Amino acid sequence: MKKIKRIAVLTSGGDAPGMNAAIRSVVRTCAHYRIDCIGVFRGYQGLIEGDFVPMSARSVSSIINKGGTMLKSARSDEFRTKAGRKKAFENLKEAEIDGLILIGGDGSFTGGLKFNSEFNFPLIGIPGTIDNDIFGTDYTIGYDTALNTVVEVIDKIRDTASSHNRLFFVEVMGRDAGFIALNAGVGAGAEEILIPEENLGLERLLESLKRSKRAGKSSSIVVVAEGDKLGKNVFELRDYVEEHLPEYEVRVSVLGHMQRGGTPSCFDRVLASRLGVKAVELLLDGHSTLMVGIVNTKIESCPIKDAISGHHIINKELIRVSDIMSV
Ligand code: F6P
Repeated sequence: MKKIKRIAVLTSGGDAPGMNAAIRSVVRTCAHYRIDCIGVFRGYQGLIEGDFVPMSARSVSSIINKGGTMLKSARSDEFRTKAGRKKAFENLKEAEIDGLILIGGDGSFTGGLKFNSEFNFPLIGIPGTIDNDIFGTDYTIGYDTALNTVVEVIDKIRDTASSHNRLFFVEVMGRDAGFIALNAGVGAGAEEILIPEENLGLERLLESLKRSKRAGKSSSIVVVAEGDKLGKNVFELRDYVEEHLPEYEVRVSVLGHMQRGGTPSCFDRVLASRLGVKAVELLLDGHSTLMVGIVNTKIESCPIKDAISGHHIINKELIRVSDIMSV
């Protein structure tokens, strides 16, 4: 097996707060083990274009507290083609890079695995996405910060909701997953939470809203995951409720990309720092196609193929708690 002397790191897919802390950790772990570290700009697209920069311990100073990613991110269509991946491989070889660390979500890992299967290039994944939808880790980098952002915003929305006796549908991110919606919903005291993993059905939603009225609530917050499977988007939900429950005055708030920005929480910074160290050490120990993660507070690893194909299950207990709280 070839000794690893130079590692490249990239961030790919949707950015997430804490990605900078992960880059910093990878770079500084490389410095610790006295191996070279190369930053790749704009994810896989930068690999294809050879957009590389040498990184030293000092080049990641003062980024631990910054949202976004200093290496930029992209969703590269060209990397989906064999020709694109070949160019990426040639650039890595030319730059004498021996291993790659991918910070991203399941789409990024799928691309990485394909790349590895074609060119046998050593790589390790670090889960970075606000969605928390990756199997093999209890938490992804960025999720905790996004939760805190969402809770803070819903607190503000509640002020205006209660001043006007209104019902608010608040749409939060999470393409196919309800982690943000469920946890932020419980944290912000939402009356109802709509997530793709648990199809409540429109009838039950109406029932629940009627119950809220009967219970004397003058305003309500319903948190809706963007990937919810009720078959209606938040605006259609508003129309539906206004039609069936005219006593409700409804407003919609789509939180959108603000959830991806901002200063990373302490939890995300610590998680990113721990995962970065482990990722570099796994590469140095000759491992490949593994994803690092945190399981029951311990840093572990699992095959990337499991991380992609497995399903990170939401905590049903939280649904029960939410139901009890919204009495
Ligand atoms: O995967 C992270 C995420 O923020 C999802 O929650 C959301 O559906 C998606 O990215 C949005 O992607 P984009 O910024 O490319 O529109």
